[in-house]
Amino acid sequence: MEQTVIVISRRADAPVTQSEGYTLDVTAKAARIIARDESGLYYGAVSLAQLVSANATDKTFHVPAVHIADWPRFAWRGLMIDSARHMQSVAEIEGILEQMALHKLNVLHWHLTDDQGWRIEIKRYPELTHTGAWRTPPDAGKDGEPARYGGYYSQDDIRHVVAYAAARHITVVPELDMPGHAQAAVAAYPQFGVTGQRPAVSADWGVNPYLYNVDEPTLHFLEGVLDEVMALFPSRYIHLGGDEAIKDQWEASPAVQQRMRALGLQHPEQLQSWLMGRLGHYLDNHGRRLIGWDEILEGGVPGDAAVMSWRGIKGIEQATRAGHDVVVAPDPFLYLDYVQSTRNDETAGRLPMQSLQSVYAFEIVPPELADTQVRRILGAQANVWTEHMPTAAHLQHAIFPRLDALAENVWTPADKRNWQSFLARLPAQLARYRQQGIGYADSAYAVDIGVDRRQALASSKATVTLSNQIGSGVIHYTLDGPPPDTHSPVYTKPFTATLPVTIRAATLTTSGSLLANTRERVLDEAHLRSLEGNELTACPSEHIDEMRAQPTPDATSLTPTYTINVFDSCRLTPPLPLDGAAVVNIDLARLPRNVALAHDAKLITSRATATKHGELELRADRCDGPALSVTNLPDPTSSPARFTLTAALPPMHGTHSLCLVMTGSPQAPYYGVGRLQWQPAAASLKKPRP
Ligand code: ACM
Repeated sequence: MEQTVIVISRRADAPVTQSEGYTLDVTAKAARIIARDESGLYYGAVSLAQLVSANATDKTFHVPAVHIADWPRFAWRGLMIDSARHMQSVAEIEGILEQMALHKLNVLHWHLTDDQGWRIEIKRYPELTHTGAWRTPPDAGKDGEPARYGGYYSQDDIRHVVAYAAARHITVVPELDMPGHAQAAVAAYPQFGVTGQRPAVSADWGVNPYLYNVDEPTLHFLEGVLDEVMALFPSRYIHLGGDEAIKDQWEASPAVQQRMRALGLQHPEQLQSWLMGRLGHYLDNHGRRLIGWDEILEGGVPGDAAVMSWRGIKGIEQATRAGHDVVVAPDPFLYLDYVQSTRNDETAGRLPMQSLQSVYAFEIVPPELADTQVRRILGAQANVWTEHMPTAAHLQHAIFPRLDALAENVWTPADKRNWQSFLARLPAQLARYRQQGIGYADSAYAVDIGVDRRQALASSKATVTLSNQIGSGVIHYTLDGPPPDTHSPVYTKPFTATLPVTIRAATLTTSGSLLANTRERVLDEAHLRSLEGNELTACPSEHIDEMRAQPTPDATSLTPTYTINVFDSCRLTPPLPLDGAAVVNIDLARLPRNVALAHDAKLITSRATATKHGELELRADRCDGPALSVTNLPDPTSSPARFTLTAALPPMHGTHSLCLVMTGSPQAPYYGVGRLQWQPAAASLKKPRP
């Protein structure tokens, strides 16, 4: 059509009866959106904008003739942003809301308080932000770490965000976490804690021990906070947390024990339920409704509370059977703080990987639920915990494009969800991101450049395999050439390259637009005898909880990262051709042990040290065999945080894994492996080319 006529009408007799639904009809004359509610009109307009932008050039666009009748599968289509561990600017939150709206998501769950920071101004209790919004990082002021980290949203900021969201049909659900994850609040007002002692605002991720008290002054305080929260957030649901509250402080407190007896309660879980019940009632009286993490079920919870199910998928069954409304948000499946690839250049996050495809494939409704239970599922959300996301770039990398997978999962009927169809539409979405300046992750399309090291070292020829995570797009490559483009060879099957050579590879669409930036691998003797640290795996153990840590807790760079198992400072290489190796150079990064493991701390492997700062031991093939070499770790107080250790090996033959064991107590720093490189003894090394 030459002239575009867009007709938008809200009608009580609109053909789609479901709330938030719409019809969109594009003909040669007009585009027409009809819906029964404002949200439906909005989503119809979003769909029209998508049709336009998928078919646009700089000057023109054409919209295919279509008839669309569309409505969401779920009423709760959410994203949780943790602003406590790392904080986002108001402009960054706006950017997220903008994208949520374009993805037809309608709930921003805003995690505003935690052990590491209190981020919402409460006028009646100014210390919450004066003290509670600021923490002192480990090694503050060194290695680029700030002297203190923090900040908070003023009530004006909050009103602005809530209005910005509302204009985009998004409800902001605030979360105030309690009775645990309360250390920042207790640091601000120790009288509302259990011990009366004032802790520091925590700089340790994980599970910290500080709980709120349960006496009347503390309840009065919490209700006062809720008064201001309810005045700021029109949301029907108010999230009161409830997760990971270890009860040690309550159990150790005579006053709390006395309170439990007075209330006729046997277990601390019941006390948590009592607290939630009391505050849930307070919310009810103000026309609001309590939602909490699934631990609120443990001691019996008021029937009208909604449950956010995060501990795997068992909780969905349990909560819906008990008649609660449920929001599905399971760890790890919809937790976007997990890495989305295991590539060395992937940024920080938790393991195991939750890929784009796995987020897409996750089924929100467990198949074993009865119909009455299914009706209790309000919807689902992805959670963005920000321990490993100090900057907007980290956040965007974690969220996009996995948000596209989530959005389709919560909107589209299960039987219409189709991965191949999603993949066919994804390139247009990535083009929109580039135009919008969104730093999305290209991890799913990034080319992995594989070789058989042993063959390459033995013959000066390498069989090269190129692939990407999702087996999609067209892989182009160059040998000792510039970054590939559409004119570069297309990879179809493994090929042989003569060494030394630098391989560059990128994934493009068939029409030549970029899906993944160029990745590069140098194949020469030195590189074939080296390994990136993130290629090592955790040593065999009953207790493995891995993360890719940043060099410092607030580091602003996306790379490097260091994979550690929080329970065991031990890493294992894949089998390596070690023929003739006599020396191993290992780049290590000393990382703060800022992970609070609570009762799981007893699972940390402790290894006796022979010297003051511990040792790095190298073992062959197994981690429980004899040490091939032992090298002392340097004094943390006088050596740089990143350093290289050189270990001598006995004469090696054939292919072996190397096990790197760091000795030390459960309080010792973590050591991350940056790169490992093996070579013949120095004397027999070939001279480098000038
Ligand atoms: C949670 O991940 N602690 C809800």
